[in-house]
Amino acid sequence: MQNKKSHKVAIVMGSQSDYSTMKYTVKVLKILKIKYESKIVSAHRTPNRMYNFAKKAEKNNISVIIAGAGGSAHLPGMIAALTRIPVIGVPIESKKLKGLDSLLSIAQMPKGIPVGTVAIGVDGAINAALLTASILSVSDIKIRNNLENWRSKQTRSVKKIPR
Ligand code: RP5
Repeated sequence: MQNKKSHKVAIVMGSQSDYSTMKYTVKVLKILKIKYESKIVSAHRTPNRMYNFAKKAEKNNISVIIAGAGGSAHLPGMIAALTRIPVIGVPIESKKLKGLDSLLSIAQMPKGIPVGTVAIGVDGAINAALLTASILSVSDIKIRNNLENWRSKQTRSVKKIPR
């Protein structure tokens, strides 16, 4: 197993309002000691920013992109179409449809351009960080060990008997 230069993850979100969910991705990446950068990149409000971000991601040494979006949630798919870096989409819980719109939009990518999709809301935000750690742990022993410790801690926290 080789340790690449150093993995960096990009967390992007369609709006400032998505941060209340995406902050959980940040929290888990910090615990696992995975470097990250975060940005607001909207596919429809800042399309040029989205294009430039996606086109430069590989050159900027980004290994995985985590994209949170709500509503019609086209951000993860648009980014995935512009780069070969794996993209994980986090469906943000929208007010009107409780995130079902976001989930279906992200998960239902037509064949050819995949987006890994996690659960709606905070569970998805946490799992996006953990899935990222799993992907990076294939080539990074430090991340592998940190993920292993995280899982062992989680296992130990489950009590055997209800109190
Ligand atoms: C999407 O629209 C964002 O990802 C956000 O979840 C949703 C609502 O955005 P705001 O109206 O709160 O800025 O683009």
